Amino acid sequence: MSARIRTFVENYDEKLNGGIPQGHVVLLAGSPGTMKSSLAYSILYRNVIEEGKKGLYISLEQNRESLEDQMESLQMSREEVESKLAVLDLAGMRIRIGGLEGGSLMNMLKMYVMNIKRSFDFDLLVLDSADALRVLAEFEDFDLEYFKLFKWLKGLRITSFLISELPYPSSSSRNGHDFDFVGGEKKDFLADGILLLTMDQMGQFETQRRLRCVKMRGTAHDTGYFVLGFDSGTFTATKAVA
Ligand SMILES: Nc1ncnc2c1ncn2[C@@H]1O[C@H](COP(=O)(O)OP(=O)(O)OP(=O)(O)O)[C@@H](O)[C@H]1O
Ligand SMILES: [Mg+2]
Repeated sequence: MSARIRTFVENYDEKLNGGIPQGHVVLLAGSPGTMKSSLAYSILYRNVIEEGKKGLYISLEQNRESLEDQMESLQMSREEVESKLAVLDLAGMRIRIGGLEGGSLMNMLKMYVMNIKRSFDFDLLVLDSADALRVLAEFEDFDLEYFKLFKWLKGLRITSFLISELPYPSSSSRNGHDFDFVGGEKKDFLADGILLLTMDQMGQFETQRRLRCVKMRGTAHDTGYFVLGFDSGTFTATKAVA
């Protein structure tokens, strides 16, 4: 069996045959507030602490301060992972450079990542988010650029997570495949794996966060919905029952 990257979501890695196959490009898709950023950061964080890996988190939406404050509030302390988990703050940087054309933003992103890779050989990468990239870069041919982005990520020979925003509200009553995960034409086939985060209505007034693995190449995974909880710094998955 190929090496696997654990998600460290309690009770969930065993549902993924031990984790995500190393080298996969995985979409982490969900509607607003489903904890996409938190889960992605937590995967890097725990892999740094428990597996001695290195992670790069590229943020195009939240600036570094906002992201790190949020993770501190989720008991993921910056000091614990200093020098092993880098945050590339393109949200903040983009304001300073301003007015870049689409192609240039993409080139800048690639250039930064390649430079960082030379001095800081990261194993895991998060791009938060594909949608922000699409909006900011104003690609003329997004389908083509998106295809090239996947190829490029794959070529880095790391495990990467691409965050993808889904329309609100999303509900598990809809099958994951109903969604177009990245806007425009269906491009889900480009990803090696898709993890879906939902916030589902329970009765009239309550909601519940859920996690489902829509696909994971090379893995006999559970395709069901799991209730996603968060407790003292750890995400947990519990089988959702009707
Ligand atoms: N300390 C905490 N404990 C539990 N849940 C929290 C805590 N802090 C924030 N949250 C929840 O996490 C949500 C935000 O998580 P996160 O930013 O990871 O979601 P997201 O899916 O990335 O959101 P966005 O669509 O804004 O990118 C908040 O809306 C809140 O409900
Ligand atoms: Mg987010």
